[in-house]
Amino acid sequence: MKVLILETAAEAAARTAGIISDCLAALDRPVLGLATGGTMEPVYTALVELHRNGKADFSNATTFNLDEYVGLSPNQRGSYSRFMQDALFSRVNLDPARCHLPRGNAEDPIAEAKRYEDAIAAAGGIDLQLLGIGRNGHIGFNEPISSLSGRTRVKTLTESTRRANARYFPSANAIPRYAITMGIGTILDARHCLLLATGGGKSAAVARMIEGPVAAYCPASALQMHPQATVVLDRDAAADLRLIHYYQEIHPGGREPKIP
Ligand code: F6R
Repeated sequence: MKVLILETAAEAAARTAGIISDCLAALDRPVLGLATGGTMEPVYTALVELHRNGKADFSNATTFNLDEYVGLSPNQRGSYSRFMQDALFSRVNLDPARCHLPRGNAEDPIAEAKRYEDAIAAAGGIDLQLLGIGRNGHIGFNEPISSLSGRTRVKTLTESTRRANARYFPSANAIPRYAITMGIGTILDARHCLLLATGGGKSAAVARMIEGPVAAYCPASALQMHPQATVVLDRDAAADLRLIHYYQEIHPGGREPKIP
């Protein structure tokens, strides 16, 4: 696992956007896995800026988002589809036909999850999977004790996750109880996993993910098993790491080392 520690949340988001734009430039037909949530907003803002400056071309890209709430239609307030439209899809040169999210309003959400998993495989798998982390260690909507080899499926959200996302909904009753999410096995199949965490509220989960045991109780700890996982942090999110000085020595300022 590569741990990059930046001073501020803005710098961490910019570093993350830079890794994504490098992937876009390096591959002929990049397949990106995308995430939503507050942490990702400055990443998408930075990507839009890079695009406007001619430094991020999405024309050949395909995207698959991690998750979507069950019961919400694509344009509905609070849906991840709408979040992505507003934050990125409508602001860069992505082909709408190649932007995928699970269909939250599918008649049969279980069948929809299977269809989504198959669609990722049919696209050749994911080159770069962007991830955030919940305070309880979730990735995607794989809540604690999710199978570490699970595939895309319907999951029940914890109360703490529902509370954390309440700001996107008009009332507490409107917050969905279920989501379709890529499984941890699906996420680990991505060729590169890139997780961004910012703010002190995430520091305990970040420490368990990086330095704790691999355990379903902290789903993000499964990234320890991935051969190419990069974690980008700001100082506050990195605060509980025991080996922080070691990570900073290897990647000073979050940069790649200059090996003589
Ligand atoms: C969103 C997702 C979640 C979020 C996580 C952190 O697609 O899969 O795992 O990344 O809940 O959310 P924020 O960034 O709002 O703290």
